Amino acid sequence: MFVRRIAVVGTGYVGLTTGACLASLGHRVECADVDALKVNRLRAGQVDILEPGLAELVARGRATGGLTFVEGARGAVADAEVVFLCLPTPMGAGGAADLGAVEAVAREIRDVLPRDAVVVCKSTVPVGTSVRLAALLGREDVAVVSNPEFLREGSAVHDFLHPDRVVVGSDSPRAAERVAALFAGLGAPTVLMDAASAEMVKYAANCFLAMKLSYVNAVAELCELVGADVTSVTEGMGHDRRIGQAFLKPGPGWGGSCLPKDAHAMLRVADAVGVDFPLLRATVETNARQQRRVVDKVRRAVGALAGARIGVLGLVFKAGTNDLRDSPALAVAELLALEGAELVAHDPQVDRPLPGMTVVDDPYAAVRGADAVVLLTEWPEFRALDWARVAALMAGSTVLDTRNHLDPDALLRAGLVLDGTGRVHRVTA
Ligand code: UDX
Repeated sequence: MFVRRIAVVGTGYVGLTTGACLASLGHRVECADVDALKVNRLRAGQVDILEPGLAELVARGRATGGLTFVEGARGAVADAEVVFLCLPTPMGAGGAADLGAVEAVAREIRDVLPRDAVVVCKSTVPVGTSVRLAALLGREDVAVVSNPEFLREGSAVHDFLHPDRVVVGSDSPRAAERVAALFAGLGAPTVLMDAASAEMVKYAANCFLAMKLSYVNAVAELCELVGADVTSVTEGMGHDRRIGQAFLKPGPGWGGSCLPKDAHAMLRVADAVGVDFPLLRATVETNARQQRRVVDKVRRAVGALAGARIGVLGLVFKAGTNDLRDSPALAVAELLALEGAELVAHDPQVDRPLPGMTVVDDPYAAVRGADAVVLLTEWPEFRALDWARVAALMAGSTVLDTRNHLDPDALLRAGLVLDGTGRVHRVTA
């Protein structure tokens, strides 16, 4: 393997994972961020992102000198053969991806990029961004490559080192091959394509996952009404290899830093070329409906939400992360608070105050005096709660398990009423 000098601009969960993993493969990586505080913390070996294995890889990279950190993109790219842009592309006006950060960095680095460097865009961007980036860079000798990432938060290091596939797209086949070679050691299928197709893969994949989840959430609603159990239904479906078991768990709706933003951005892409995409619109609408359905169930359990005390278990968008971005739990909490419910919430990874609720550092404090309890994030520690103690602390008796995460027998023994998602049988004492 050729050892390459690589710059990674942006040290969020994607950038830092990319940098640390490429360093672990033997490359010399310099990571840059505009946030001086973040850079100083990383230089001191402090990793604030909760990703299993990441802190260890950063420590190893620092120890060998293969992984360094610098403030500002210019310093990192001056010596780089390949530059990865791992910058946020948040939801901007009308749902479109906001490319401000990506474009600002392109302007900042264009005159310091070494000859024949390759700029790789890892950020999720609308089709056509590679061409726009190339124009912004204005360098005949510098090729732009799209290399979408499929890292899940909470298993980003694992996903990087064991990818299902590596997608590399460029209108310069030579540049695409240079980038693909960086991942050669991972032994994953590598799919080379043009830049527009690579940009499309990311949106098409994430929107498909969102669609799968909205579908299963809608099936769960039907199951409740016809007396079927969604867990059995999805197991029965998932053995079909054309469907697969993954992404078939109903819940309070999908969220996080990617799926909602990408679904909206894809709708904007369709809009821009004059295409109606009813399937994707319904996917987004079904997700909002799923959140309202949780609120309806809590209301049903307590009679009226105004003045009711609701214990909330879980706030982050998925267990194993500390990420509140577009968390369905927050959306549900907001709807409950709008109707006048008094919320007391606990999440193992949230210790700061949030609007519309009291955040407590102990799950038992969250359920004390609650008229109903709603579980919104699948933290393992919630399964292990002492449910007899919970029952004794609560004022009411209904526990709404939006993710079918809890052990029904444990709640039954405690004399609680368990209301899951897509399961008609209510476990009652
Ligand atoms: C997602 C994509 O999976 C990843 O490929 C992409 O790069 C970034 O976006 P992530 O946002 O980390 O990753 O979360 P993911 O595990 O995909 O879950 C997304 C949402 O769907 C979460 O809110 C999760 O709770 C929900 N979900 C997931 C379900 O409700 N049921 C499931 O079966 C799976």
